[in-house]
Amino acid sequence: MSVRIGDIAPNFTIATTQGDIDFHSWSAGSWVFFFSHPADYTPVCTTEMGRTAQLAQEFERRKVKCLGLSTDTVEQHLGWINDINETQNTNVQFPIVADKELKIAQLYDMIHPNESETATVRSVFIIDPNHKVRLIMTYPMSVGRNFTEILRVIDALQTGDQYGVACPADWQVGGDVIIPPSVSSADAEKKFPQGFKTVKPYLRYTRVDK
Ligand code: BEZ
Repeated sequence: MSVRIGDIAPNFTIATTQGDIDFHSWSAGSWVFFFSHPADYTPVCTTEMGRTAQLAQEFERRKVKCLGLSTDTVEQHLGWINDINETQNTNVQFPIVADKELKIAQLYDMIHPNESETATVRSVFIIDPNHKVRLIMTYPMSVGRNFTEILRVIDALQTGDQYGVACPADWQVGGDVIIPPSVSSADAEKKFPQGFKTVKPYLRYTRVDK
């Protein structure tokens, strides 16, 4: 069974580079960037792990915990982390799940058999503090993820939650946001005293602080 947006992220208990974790206890009250990669000691994955570590403060500022996963062992992960720190000039401080038996990979549908029967593709799950899955992205093995987009979508989700708005194409922090069609214009006037621009009855823009 696959995991979908709006689902409660399935819980699991598993060994990681920072000891065993119960996922829901570990992530309680935080957002989570949960991501799989195909294998340790591979080049694209090395850059992605490095980038995640380099962005630690950006994730922390957004109250996001990072959790990596591949179908390698804790020992392999720990050896590889030394290489990541050395080559990417960083310090990996987030845990990496050792899913040698593919238990979590199967639970989260991270194995795409026509790509590999045993290695995970590059899946991303953004999970909110209530354990709800808010975003799913899947990248092929040959393309590293765009971390600017990962931070952007977290900002967009958090802005949407805070203000009850949606974010348009290519939205960036500080840009105009959209008043959802479910909000009447009478209610919008109360909810957005800063005002809003009506381009069409279903397309209304406003600005919020973030
Ligand atoms: C990599 O991380 O470089 C990689 C891993 C598996 C397949 C292709 C590339």
